[in-house]
Amino acid sequence: MTTAAPISIDPLETLDARFRAAIAAAFPDLPAEGIETHIAANRQPKLGDFQSNAAMPLAKRLGKNPREVAGAIIERLDLSGVAEPVTAEAIAGPGFINIRLLGDAMAASLTRLDTEQLGIEPPEHPMMVVVDLCGVNLAKQMHVGHLRSTVIGDAVARLYERLGHTVVRQNHVGDWGLPIAMVVQKLVELEQGGRDLSDLSLDELNALYRAAQAECKAEKAALALINKVGGHPKAEAELEARIEDAGAQTERAKQRLVKLQSGDPESVAAWQRVYDITMGACLATCARLHAHISEDASAGESSYRDELAGVIDDLTRRGIAEEDDGALVVRVDGLKEPCIVRKRDGGYLYATTDLAAIRRRAGTLGGERVVYCVDARQALHFKQVFGAAHKAGYDRTPDGKTAELFHAAFGNVLGEDNKPLKTRSGENIKLADLIDEAIERARSELNRRIEFAPKFPKDYPEQIIDTAEREQIADAVAIAALKYADLSTERIKDYVFSFDRMLAFEGETGPYLLYALVRTKSIFRKAADAGVNPDDFADAPLLLEEPAERALALTLLRHPGVVRAAGENHEPNRLCAHAYALAGAFSTFFDQCPVLKAETDGTRLSRLRLCALTARALEDALNTLGIPTVERM
Ligand code: ARG
Repeated sequence: MTTAAPISIDPLETLDARFRAAIAAAFPDLPAEGIETHIAANRQPKLGDFQSNAAMPLAKRLGKNPREVAGAIIERLDLSGVAEPVTAEAIAGPGFINIRLLGDAMAASLTRLDTEQLGIEPPEHPMMVVVDLCGVNLAKQMHVGHLRSTVIGDAVARLYERLGHTVVRQNHVGDWGLPIAMVVQKLVELEQGGRDLSDLSLDELNALYRAAQAECKAEKAALALINKVGGHPKAEAELEARIEDAGAQTERAKQRLVKLQSGDPESVAAWQRVYDITMGACLATCARLHAHISEDASAGESSYRDELAGVIDDLTRRGIAEEDDGALVVRVDGLKEPCIVRKRDGGYLYATTDLAAIRRRAGTLGGERVVYCVDARQALHFKQVFGAAHKAGYDRTPDGKTAELFHAAFGNVLGEDNKPLKTRSGENIKLADLIDEAIERARSELNRRIEFAPKFPKDYPEQIIDTAEREQIADAVAIAALKYADLSTERIKDYVFSFDRMLAFEGETGPYLLYALVRTKSIFRKAADAGVNPDDFADAPLLLEEPAERALALTLLRHPGVVRAAGENHEPNRLCAHAYALAGAFSTFFDQCPVLKAETDGTRLSRLRLCALTARALEDALNTLGIPTVERM
């Protein structure tokens, strides 16, 4: 026997440690890093709560018989205080080891979980974490891609906060460079033409932006065409005229950028107008999404404009950047494409700004971790930038630590045709329109349900749900649906956007979880009516006898471990799955175990305490994901 590892709240953690020790003792020649315990929930609860499949791969590695390996493990396995001792009979098939937890041990762990923080201890090393999220671009509407950078980014930030770390959110707004100067130029021209710009809308700005872009594109496309095919004299003359026009517009934009850079009041005022209109709309949408992203988080590309020349100087002086075909680049080990930091024409790039951003985030803000919640298509960009920043030492914190830089990449939102979600005419879908439609649909579903209320007067007290409350519920249901659908898929995967699926009140959806929480809480109102108050069951001894009680307890005990794993891996989907598992375990428990009508006082109070823990864990999961909840629906 080995010395038993201490007992964690999460039985999976304890079992993992105990199995690890047993395997190490049974096979002392194995390198410790190579040990895998392969413990998971038992698919056949009759056989046990968990199962370890460690013996099979180990046997293969050691060239031994798997049942013998399993036997050697259990001989040294100390599960005291956690689970029933494992006997030879518990080895099934080729070497699966079945584990049944002790009811008393589960109850003791649940009691430890029942703290203010639901068993989530403050971190041993609290970190400063910078989360890059949202990332809208000036003069553009937020589109469906920003749903993910906003919703995932906010969830990642909330997870770190929940774990007790300090978080700084950074909205890396695309608010600088030639494209923005083009819009600013257009605005100045409009104003000079006598147009009153005080009521300019984001839609109008967007149109100006597209017009400006089209001019620039026309220039490039025409040039390429002429170079490639030549053409008859008239066509060529026409094209040249177009190029000249576009070229002139680009030239004006370049000059505008120079003016902006030097603080010319007219240019700055026009830029500020573009900024205010875009950010006003952006922050309003973030608020509707219940994402904690405010003006404080805004750290746009423009905020680095005065640092870029310094970055280039520094990189050149220290020999980190080198000339390459007229451009300035930083070569990164393992990457074929270097990180370009200055173009041949002397212009800076997206990457130059991101290098300055890393320097600020690690060096000034003290970020020990910087997490970028950005589209997977920017993977190469971040590899280059992270590599270049490291080479330059820009990832160093003030106390000399090297910050960990993560690209928490996400996939696309697809339409039902499996292609990136667009409107029928092929345009990007505005995020605000998407939210409007979700609310509209949630509202009509709620109304439909309330219409059927006479059949279920207890569930839908029509006269109580007044219009204002109904609006508020429709809002929460819609946002929960949108966010849960986005957060519950594995981050890196694409997902198909479907209002019907995400808004369903049954199945793995946001509305179902809100409903589950409401149902959990409704018991306390009934209990209060029956004269039982929270104080009566707050410290009640937990009795875990029925299979459904055990199953619910097991799911609850996973709570701190899941929150930690979801946070550390930047995988909100893990917490989504846990919330859904909690709702499911609760629903089975509620079907099978009478609460207020339980046979004894002890059982009633124990079950009420289980309900209270479930409600708190479920609410904690939803809050940590940034999903709004309601008191009834
Ligand atoms: N504005 C960028 C875009 O729309 C996203 C910014 C991501 N963050 C960053 N630090 N590069 O693609």
